[in-house]
Amino acid sequence: MKLAIGNDHAAVEMKKEIKAYLEGRGIEVIDVGTDSPQRFNYPLSGYRAAKLVASGRADGGVLICGTGVGISLAANKVRGIRACVCSEPCTARLSKQHNNANIIAFGARIVGVELAKMIVDAWLEARFEGGRHQERIDMIQEIEDTQGLRAADEL
Ligand code: RB5
Repeated sequence: MKLAIGNDHAAVEMKKEIKAYLEGRGIEVIDVGTDSPQRFNYPLSGYRAAKLVASGRADGGVLICGTGVGISLAANKVRGIRACVCSEPCTARLSKQHNNANIIAFGARIVGVELAKMIVDAWLEARFEGGRHQERIDMIQEIEDTQGLRAADEL
């Protein structure tokens, strides 16, 4: 398995810890973030990681900024990306089971390293359940592709 990892200046130490943790699990990690405390605008690494995932060059992504919000917003602008911010493992698991999240995000200023590892594990180990959840993902994709939603027009 190959994962993209990205971060900004607020998450350098967290990124290093999570990258090492993933590599320790035998996962190949493509690091598109920064190792510097100098200001680094999160859309850059969010975009880079999202492109790797959307193009199939990575199987998924882990994005970390101060809150996880900005970097996931940037990633979600790339077609086909479903980046979910999670601050605990239950949401991380459900984000894969129900939403087929292909990127997990969290905040280095919000969660500690051990909780972050549990979040990543929950997301990695969960499987998408398909079925009724696929129908909803298809609707999200329709909004992305057409900026419209036929089901809403029919109301
Ligand atoms: C950087 O100060 C901070 O705004 C960023 O890491 C992130 O929290 C934005 O969503």
